[in-house]
Amino acid sequence: MDDQLRQQFLAETRKALDLMQTRDVTAEKQEAVIKDCIKNFDKYVNPGILEYRKSVSTDYAAVEWRDEGNCFYDIHGNEFIDCLGGFGIYMLGHRHPTVKDAVQAQLQHQALHSQELLDPMRGYASKLLAMCTPGKLQYSFFCNSGTEANEGAMKLAKLYWNHKKPDHKNGMITCTRGFHGKSMGSLSVSGKGEFRDAFYPLLPGVRFIPFGDADALDKELAICDMIGLDIAGFIVEPVQGEAGAIVPPDDYFPKVREICDKWGVLLIVDEVQTGMGRTGTLWGIEHWDCPPDIMAMGKALGGAVVPVGNFMATPEVFEAMFENPYIHTTTFGGNPMATAAVIGALHATIEEDIPGQAATKGAWLKEKFQEIQKRYPDALVDVRGLGVLIGLEFVTPEFGYAMSTGLFGEGVLVGGTLFNAKTFRIEPPATLTQEQMETIVERVERVLVKTREKHLKGELEALH
Ligand SMILES: Cc1ncc(COP(=O)(O)O)c(C=O)c1O
Repeated sequence: MDDQLRQQFLAETRKALDLMQTRDVTAEKQEAVIKDCIKNFDKYVNPGILEYRKSVSTDYAAVEWRDEGNCFYDIHGNEFIDCLGGFGIYMLGHRHPTVKDAVQAQLQHQALHSQELLDPMRGYASKLLAMCTPGKLQYSFFCNSGTEANEGAMKLAKLYWNHKKPDHKNGMITCTRGFHGKSMGSLSVSGKGEFRDAFYPLLPGVRFIPFGDADALDKELAICDMIGLDIAGFIVEPVQGEAGAIVPPDDYFPKVREICDKWGVLLIVDEVQTGMGRTGTLWGIEHWDCPPDIMAMGKALGGAVVPVGNFMATPEVFEAMFENPYIHTTTFGGNPMATAAVIGALHATIEEDIPGQAATKGAWLKEKFQEIQKRYPDALVDVRGLGVLIGLEFVTPEFGYAMSTGLFGEGVLVGGTLFNAKTFRIEPPATLTQEQMETIVERVERVLVKTREKHLKGELEALH
């Protein structure tokens, strides 16, 4: 780096470092930050994002600056009630004091780990998870995201069958419309063509069945048996999140457990989105009698302060990793800051009965949305979900997209995208206040009435 570039470089780092320390941003500075942000995204992040986000238009860009309670605030101080954040990371609201204090306290003496000395917080976090997860789940492997948790979970399933046992099972069964992440292994078991198309060939030996149909699993396993494809695991979400909050029939999971046992297949439950209280029980699978062999988690696990993923397994299954614990590793997984966040998040989740709050508040919201649906069945065609994982399905993708854009304008963030516009998810923190819930419902109805008028007049813009 020559001297001139070095000076420029240090000036740029200093500018960002000073901005982080700034609490009251002047109007002039606000405009400068917005300009920088747009320019940097355009030149150095991905200009496609500027096209794609509802928060950016030719004369306006909402740049996030602060979050607190159940809301995001942009740099001008505009408030957005969060029914979207990270597609389900904010179960405890934003920067929950117990989690923030845990991470800050940990940071005062150690941030990351040696990989040689033993890290105590990893031990405590693992013990706590063993105490609060279903069935015989006991051992934890921490990583950094949901997709990594599923990669590890699937590797463990294969290792279990291939390591000590003579069975050698390598195949996986998964569900259409399911979502498990976008790294190659997780993508291979995710059931949506638009994410997969460009990346074939994906992992071999993956079979797809419809979600919620236990007989389909039994039949598919019979076919696999006939053609000599040995299946190591069935990976499934308790409630399909990304697909739009799809809840299976009540007898589905108990039957799935029986079928997996009958065929000798490990059941991998993906709790990345449904875990930590989201569906009204601590783990989504707890709505049914169906203890998993392996369970993946992420999103809200780090209390929305530090990113963290994890997969757990029963002693019988996890034992496959005892002999060589380094057969699957990740540099940052289980680091002290992440596990401090997990401990803080678990403490607050149980202390404040976050699952109970999600159950009651989710039921209230769902009922209100269903009342709106009754008033406008030609616009809102379905309301579904469990706890605070609610899907609203509209009559057309154009309608759904106009709804999510309209709600953005009204200060409510929901998960509607150009690619997946017809249905959007309402995934707020379980800590929403009654007043905030009433505001959300009132704004949803107001935007729906306006959108419906345009829809009936044929004035909604076609999505390309
Ligand atoms: C059920 C499920 N599994 C896995 C993932 C992937 O998690 P991440 O984006 O942290 O890799 C997601 C993300 O939305 C998810 O909803």
